[in-house]
Amino acid sequence: MSDLQSTQDAPSDVSDHDEPVDGGEDDRSAYEKASEDDIDPRCIPQSLDEAPPTGDDIPYPDYDEDDHDIWSALVERQMEQLPGRACAAYERGLDVLGIDAERIPPLADLSRRLEDATNWEVARIPGLLHEKDFFNLLANRQFPSTDYVRGWDELDYTPAPDCFHDIFGHMPMLTQPEFADFYQLFGQAALEAEGTDRPRLERFHWFTVEFGLLSETEGTRLFGAGIVSSNDEVTHALSDEVTKHPFDPEHITEKDYEVYNLQDELFVMESFEQLVDGFRSWTSEKGLLNGA
Ligand SMILES: [Fe+2]
Repeated sequence: MSDLQSTQDAPSDVSDHDEPVDGGEDDRSAYEKASEDDIDPRCIPQSLDEAPPTGDDIPYPDYDEDDHDIWSALVERQMEQLPGRACAAYERGLDVLGIDAERIPPLADLSRRLEDATNWEVARIPGLLHEKDFFNLLANRQFPSTDYVRGWDELDYTPAPDCFHDIFGHMPMLTQPEFADFYQLFGQAALEAEGTDRPRLERFHWFTVEFGLLSETEGTRLFGAGIVSSNDEVTHALSDEVTKHPFDPEHITEKDYEVYNLQDELFVMESFEQLVDGFRSWTSEKGLLNGA
């Protein structure tokens, strides 16, 4: 199964979606469609009542030993699988963050490392966020992260966001300048998007930030947070069971995806420059980011 803590990042809003526009085309997110019948309450997006704590103001939770043991189990088994599979930028990001495999790292510490690397900071959030709050944070170079970890029974899969996905999946790439700048740009575009451009951007996010692959000299490598933080996806994504498409924003933004299963089609970027250029071209055609 896919690492569904990725739900945190998807621009979905179960409770407040627009009516279909553009001649009746459905503008609901994949999460909205998938969760019509049976929704996990942890996956209902919530609005922030006040600005979340950021950087040094983020308190360290009173974790119990079980929490740290779960964290260790998650980190250690991913670290065994990632060499030779994760892209170089992600590996560099892991080094920059210096993630502790024994104890859940304080978000305040990680925030300082992000700030030194790319002038991003961490904002501690309570769970799945309403899309506007989520995009607002991204547009301000603040990465929304939870600080609780999943249970033992959810080691392979959790439908809710947790700090393993947020920290181990997302933060390494945010230490890399090209990606860090792109992610802010994505937040800015998403804030501007309306109607069916919203789910189009969600698909773009899914197939790049969460499930993107990158072509490197040695072969195809993992890049997306939903893959590098998922034990099953790490091997599955690079297998012949997955159809690999060349990076193409037009194709990506029209492609529906499966939320609750392993991905069977993914996109391979040639470079992060291609990601940024392709995103800028697409948003330009849509009349987004004119001022950015
Ligand atoms: Fe995510």
